[in-house]
Formats: sequence, structure tokens, C-alpha cells
Amino acid sequence: MIKSLSEFKQAKVQAEENPGGFWSEVAREFHWKSPWKQTLDYDFSIPEVKWFIGGKLNITENCLDRHLATQPNKTAILFEPNDPTGEVQRLTYKELHTRVCQTANMLRANGAKKGDRICIYMPMVPELAIAVLACARIGAIHSVVFAGFSATALAARINDASCSMLLTADGGFRGAKTIALKEIADEALNSCSTVNCCLVLQRTQQEVQWNFIDKWWHEELEKVDDNCSAEVMDSEDPLFILYTSGSTGKPKGMVHTCGGYMVYTAYTFKNVFQCQPNDVYWCTADIGWITGHSYIVYGPLANGSTTVMFEGVPSYPALDRFWEVCAKHKITHFYTAPTAIRALEKHPTSLVEKHDLSSLKVLGSVGEPINAEAWHWYDEHVGKHNCPIVDTWWQTETGGILISSLAGVTPQKPTFATLPLPGVQTVLLNNEGDEIEGEGEGILAIKHPWPSIARTIWGDHERYKNVYFSAYPGYYFPGDGALRDADGNYRITGRVDDVVIVSGHNLGTAPIENAINEHPEVVESAVVGFPHDIKGNALCAYVIVRDMGVDSISIEKEIREEVAKTIGPIAKPDRILIVSGLPKTRSGKIMRRILRKLAAGEYDQLGDISTLLNPEVVEEIKRQNS
Ligand code: WTA
Repeated sequence: MIKSLSEFKQAKVQAEENPGGFWSEVAREFHWKSPWKQTLDYDFSIPEVKWFIGGKLNITENCLDRHLATQPNKTAILFEPNDPTGEVQRLTYKELHTRVCQTANMLRANGAKKGDRICIYMPMVPELAIAVLACARIGAIHSVVFAGFSATALAARINDASCSMLLTADGGFRGAKTIALKEIADEALNSCSTVNCCLVLQRTQQEVQWNFIDKWWHEELEKVDDNCSAEVMDSEDPLFILYTSGSTGKPKGMVHTCGGYMVYTAYTFKNVFQCQPNDVYWCTADIGWITGHSYIVYGPLANGSTTVMFEGVPSYPALDRFWEVCAKHKITHFYTAPTAIRALEKHPTSLVEKHDLSSLKVLGSVGEPINAEAWHWYDEHVGKHNCPIVDTWWQTETGGILISSLAGVTPQKPTFATLPLPGVQTVLLNNEGDEIEGEGEGILAIKHPWPSIARTIWGDHERYKNVYFSAYPGYYFPGDGALRDADGNYRITGRVDDVVIVSGHNLGTAPIENAINEHPEVVESAVVGFPHDIKGNALCAYVIVRDMGVDSISIEKEIREEVAKTIGPIAKPDRILIVSGLPKTRSGKIMRRILRKLAAGEYDQLGDISTLLNPEVVEEIKRQNS
């Protein structure tokens, strides 16, 4: 573990001068079934990246078996249920190992094998983490789909990866609601032909329909024992697929591989959070997102830490749930999203103050830029000016944290993610693609691979190349803008593409537009983000309808329903404006920049609109807005 600023600086120099040597040193502390022959080979122009070439391992042996000799009875997963009076579960490393092995055997007994894709659509219960690890145990590629996605979105993801198995539950508890997961899964499976087995966990005990491919999880578990050999995986074999939104309608299945992902998530977890042996670490994300994969499951377990899984939401049964849970379990590390902080910050601070938060040592933030107000509120009311805040910048594509301070070791700066971690060679580019030296603002890019960079988009390597390696040849292009201060600290300024981050969720505007355009009355639409107090960004949809005389209230409702059905409730636009036209260039391209300014009410920053094909629609939209 890096213990001082000078050690950090030294690690950065070593990782930059000799990446192969640096990362092979880090990788050596893991259990490899056979060692790698070459540390790194890459070419961004293909693009191709390989780490720990020829090395053989199983990530679950590193997350589980390795700790059995030293700390079998330490809590690996601490589960806090949705219902505060419900049963807390503490799974020791030994118990978790056993349950992963049993579940892995259950998957094998039902036909799963190395290389198969298994879709996981489950609530935040221990079985979700166990299912993820069980897939990894047998070398099946897990594809977790967040349980808030709709049947259409689930089906699209199952079909994209031709999954042969689906793991789901009867339902899930989420605050005061229950979500009928099995019902949604059934609807999805109507349009999926590759799934031949659906294992159903009992969670809510609600009634479900039963199909011939369905099997009860608990019944299948009874048939297997708990000895399960770990599949031998090549360092570059896929570990999982995780979908993220993009600038076209189709979600991108980012592919992460075993060796590099393990080494990098473990290394960054250890150094960024500085977890000590008796600490209790809580990341509030859902395992359906990359944050949950890397920093609820793999990173903490690879380090032998205690990781908390929370089934519920911050507002249930009351708005102090986060703080209540922190006090109840004496949480030492609390890692959440700015949108949650902004939502809680609106309420009386007595909600925080009534709980004893003295166990907290480190706070974290992820998912979007954290604004100054939220940062200071977090620091003052949660951290009591006594806890370093790590603002961690990274992506589904990067697998692990790339820019962040190390808690208590490197300096923090409010609203800045600060310095790139060792081995992460960031640059700022101007619009021409030239590197900006020193202080400045531009496009963030990375000029050398780190071990957990996604290797491809499932089934579409060409798209992987186009999205991430073509705009600025020779660099990985994450799609974010940033500014850099004189000390080299980075502050992420937001997306520079057509992805909008709403309440920490990445939403491509294109798939939402496609969904809206499905409505029979809609001719064309454009969706943009605009600033929102709590969500960070909200969505505004400009919609052209066939008949301007239609009942706009009912059409707006139908559009929202259509979006919820196709993508999920998180993608429903906050504002829908029925317009007669969209501002377009003479070549017919929609001027999204203008729509963004209009949605934000920044009428004085529209720039020259006289070159538009139809400048009059701008006035119309302004009138509608007011
Ligand atoms: C944004 C989440 C500013 C960014 C781990 C990135 C951030 C996108 C931060 C990836 C941060 C994430 N500061 N912006 N600390 N963390 N982002 O794939 O725009 O869900 O490109 O991964 O979130 O979102 P994703």
C-alpha cells in the first residue's frame, strides 16, 4: 500500500518509465496458476491490448480461496436488507467460498460451462454477488443487467451476447415498492431464443408464472455439493460483459478480461481507499453498474476486506437511512454518488446529526462531477472535516479508478478528482488533437493502456475502435472534458459526446430518441441534458408531432411510458416540449448545442443562429419554455 506522497510520486515515475516492470511487481502478490510470459503488448491503432500474457488464474481463488488460510472467519459480505428490521447477514470468507462453490456447481449442473454468457438480472441481495463469483468460478462470462432496466432493454442485452442462461429472482424490494423481476424477465424472454435455463431465486415470495425452462434456485442448490474446482482461465479470457450507453441506439457490451481487471481493481481499491484490516467498507452503488462490480465485489474481496451490500434506497424508510446504516454497522469507508449527496443535502442536517458517524474515516464520490456545494456539505456534515474525500473518476470502459486522490495520502482539492493514479498517463487535447501543456482546459485522453482497460465491445470490435480510438489517433478517448490546474490536478467538466449523466446513470440520448420516435404521432425528436439541482442533469425532449393540435398532455404521458418500457424509468424525460421544428444546419444536422442552451435557459449564449436552416424555431422554443 502506498503510504506517503513521496511513495506515490515514486510509484508514478516507475509506472511511467517501466510499465511492464511496475505492473508485474504489483501482479506478483496474487495467486497465478501459471505465470505470465510477457507483461504487456498493445497497439492502439488496431486497437489491441493484452496484459500478463500467457498467465493462468481464476479471479475467485484470489478473492476467496486465498483468504481461507489467513482469515476464514472474517466477514466478507455484510448484507443490510431493504427493511431496517429485516435480517442482517454476515457471510464470512469461508461461508462465501462455500456458497460460491455450491452456486457454481448449480450452474454447471444446469449446463453452464466456460465461455458461456450468463445474464444476471437480480436485486441487491448476497446471491447476486455470489452469482457473479460463481460465473467467474466456472469461467462463464457474466453479464449483469441492472434490475431497474425494462424487459425490452433486458432482452436486447441477452440477445446481444447470446446468453444461454438467465439468473433472476421472483421479485426485489426497493424502498416501499417491490419490483416484479420474474414478470419482467418472462416478458424479455419472449423475444430471446438463446436462453435455455432460467434459475429463479426466491426473495419476495410473490407469485410468479412458471415456464418450462424455469427452475427454483433453492431446489437446484440442494442437488449439489460444495466442492468446486476453479476453471483455469487465461489472463486475457473474458471475465464479464457490462453494457453502457453510447451515442447510437445499441448499448455497448464492454468486455473485461480476467488478469488485468483483477490486478488493477485490487490495486486501486487498496491504494485509493486505504482500507485497514478491521475496516467496514460500504459502496452504495448497485452491482448492476461497474462501480458495484469493481468496488463492491472484486476489488474489496481481492483485498480481503469487509464489503457491505445494501438492498434498499437512501430515502426508505426515511431520509436518514444512509446515516442510520453507517452508525449501525460502524462503517469506516463510505463511497457514494454526488446525486445522492445533493438529494440528502436538501433536507435538515439534523437527519445526519442524530446518528453517530464517528466510525467514518474515508468518504468517496463517483459517477459524475461533484459540485462545490455538495462537496462541502459532504465534508462538513458527514465527514465532520475529519475524513478525506476521494473523488474517483473512471468509467465502465476503464474497469477501475483512473484519477483520484489516495485517502489521507495525496492532497485533495474540492471538485477536483486530482491526480492520475500510477500507470495512468492522461493528457489534455485541444480540438485539433494537440496536447495542451500545463494549466488548461480540453479533451481528456490517455496515451498508454492500464491493466483493466476494456478489450473490446462484445461482437463489434470496429465500434470499439471508432468510439474510443479514432477521434484522436494514438490515444484512448473517454468522452469527457477536463481542466487541469498548475499542479496537474484534473477537474472533470462533463461529457463531450451525446451521453448525459442523470442521477449518476449514463444515458445515451440516441436510444431515448429512438424510443420516443416509436410513438405513432411522433415525427422526429431530439433529447438533450440540462442542469438539474439534484440529478446533476435532467433530460429535455423536443418532439415534433404529426398534428400540432393533439392533446399534448396525453402524448407526453405516452412518450414517458414508451421510454420507460423501452429503456427503463430512469430514462424518462423531465421535460417534453412539443415543437413544430428543430433547429438544423443547412445540411440538415440537428443543432444539439442550441437545444442544450435553450433547455438550460441560456438564451444569451446561443451564438449566431442566422446560419440555421430555420432560425424561427428558436423563437418558438423560447416562447414554449417561458
Ligand atoms: C462520469 C462510473 C466526474 C464521467 C464509474 C465518465 C465522473 C462517466 C466521475 C462514466 C467523477 C464518473 N467526476 N465525472 N469522479 N466518475 N464520471 O461508465 O463522465 O457509469 O465518463 O462509470 O461518468 O460512467 P460509468
